[in-house]
Amino acid sequence: MRGRIPDNFIDELLTRVDIVDVIERRVPLKKAGREWTACCPFHNERSPSFYVSPAKQFFHCFGCGAHGSAIKFLMDYDRLEFPDAIEELAQSVGMKVPYEGGRDDKPREDRSDLYTLLDEAASFYQRELGNSAEARAYVDRRGLDEETLKRFRIGWAPAGFDGVLKALGTTDNRRKLLNDAGMVASNERGNRYDRFRERVMFPILDRRGRVIAFGGRVLSADQGPKYLNSPETPLFHKGRELFALWQVKQANQTLTRIMVVEGYMDVIALHQAGLPIAVATLGTATTPDHAEVLFRAAPDVYFCFDGDRAGRQAAWRAVESILPRMRDGRQAHFLFLPDGEDPDSLVRKEGKDGFEKRMKESVPLSEYFFDELARDVDTSRIDGRARLAERARPLIARLPDGAFRDLMADELKRRTGAGATFESEATPQRSAAPKQGNVQRSLVRSAITLLIAQPALALEVEPPYPFLRLDRPGVDLLAELIDVVRNRPDIRPAVLVEHFLERPEYNALQKLMQAEVIGEADMQRVEFLDALEGMKRQATTQRREFLIARSREGVLDDTEKAELRVLLAARVAPGEAAAE
Ligand code: UTP
Ligand code: MN
Repeated sequence: MRGRIPDNFIDELLTRVDIVDVIERRVPLKKAGREWTACCPFHNERSPSFYVSPAKQFFHCFGCGAHGSAIKFLMDYDRLEFPDAIEELAQSVGMKVPYEGGRDDKPREDRSDLYTLLDEAASFYQRELGNSAEARAYVDRRGLDEETLKRFRIGWAPAGFDGVLKALGTTDNRRKLLNDAGMVASNERGNRYDRFRERVMFPILDRRGRVIAFGGRVLSADQGPKYLNSPETPLFHKGRELFALWQVKQANQTLTRIMVVEGYMDVIALHQAGLPIAVATLGTATTPDHAEVLFRAAPDVYFCFDGDRAGRQAAWRAVESILPRMRDGRQAHFLFLPDGEDPDSLVRKEGKDGFEKRMKESVPLSEYFFDELARDVDTSRIDGRARLAERARPLIARLPDGAFRDLMADELKRRTGAGATFESEATPQRSAAPKQGNVQRSLVRSAITLLIAQPALALEVEPPYPFLRLDRPGVDLLAELIDVVRNRPDIRPAVLVEHFLERPEYNALQKLMQAEVIGEADMQRVEFLDALEGMKRQATTQRREFLIARSREGVLDDTEKAELRVLLAARVAPGEAAAE
């Protein structure tokens, strides 16, 4: 266990690093006045709305609302846990992280020792492959060539109970590390032995190419579970890792498509056949974390499944994981294979070209989504269409705001005659061109516009502000504006906006101030309060949908269950919801 990292160390660290440096090393930045800008790495976009402020040492994206410090950036971009992001930053400026009250003083050394040891284990297995005629014969039979064996560092865990322990566990500390890395198991009497024995070994690499775990396959069916994977360890979280992502990145300078298949051998066969775009989840369904990693790697993600019921189920799990990640510019495709085939067997039969052809014929998410939801409903009948609409709406609502969501809502309407009952939100910058009259498209945006036009409106609301619970871009900004006005009740619009001079939001606020606000002051007041009331309702809907989704996963605790019952009871009729 590492101990706690003291707050003052984090402060000190943040004054030593420069966020521009940290981000620049990962995302090329362009100077824009006092700030730096780029196309946002957290969503797909063509023109830059991602800003880095050296003065404030934070980043902010007007497109998707991502923002934070250098630590937050590393957590989101490199997908590091908080302490690891701190470690990474500290290392970059030559500082050592002090841990308070931990059992372990040398966490950094321990981690790198773990990586080193796992790397040694991979090399050990690779050597053993050369020593085993039986294992060599197996990989030959599976058609793996030398180049592939090397590229994937495929190896062999020999028979016996202590091959790895003997070769690598030469000190107490190293034996402990082997244990931490999941390489040894122990029986009831506490005797330790190699976890992997008589298995073909596939090292699992992280996104920096370091060995973090293994999968091992038996040679024949009667030798226990076909595949055995390392357990979860400090280095290995299978809900986040993808087998062969490293090899995919190594093989492609720029990556426009990536494909998720089910098995180790499927990935390897595709790479060997000239399609080094395949990765696999590690015996789990596609998680939302996987979805984000996939779309960051490439804008087009293909999901390849067996054509059977299990395959369809897995595909639907993938759909549920990717919906919230489907920002504009990202596309998902579904490819179902004929019965009894997997990508390994197919690519060997049909070659690269045959497989490419199947990819071309794959079903886009939009189509798969509606077909699957309509699978057991009769859409020639009104009640069938109603059921389809009822199923589709909450799912479409989980799509991020954008053209794809609008198109899916249109498609729902086309198929069922029923509209989707969610409101479209625009971030301040996205619809920067001032529209005629009051801006209706987004409640948050209207509230901000009206508040800038008439700052005293902030005095009409009292904390706690239920409308601030809404999780939408712009809500934090609205909260800050309200705070500023409450501290300076007679502030004028221009001064209020100047308050944000050093901030990336400044330009957007300027534009909103210039937007024409029509109507009498009294009407504006009513509109402002209406907008806040609408936000409050949206926040409630958001919370309800969140709880419903969690209850489907069966993970609600008692308080959450009670809360959900209250929310469901207070639910407005569908007709009213449409007006939100
Ligand atoms: P499959 O059973 O489809 O195997 O498992 P496969 O990939 O076609 O393997 P070969 O061709 O028989 O060698 C698909 C994936 O599910 C996980 C593994 O990640 C495997 O690659 N799995 C399967 C396990 O984790 N444990 C098992 O016992 C079986
Ligand atoms: Mn197979």
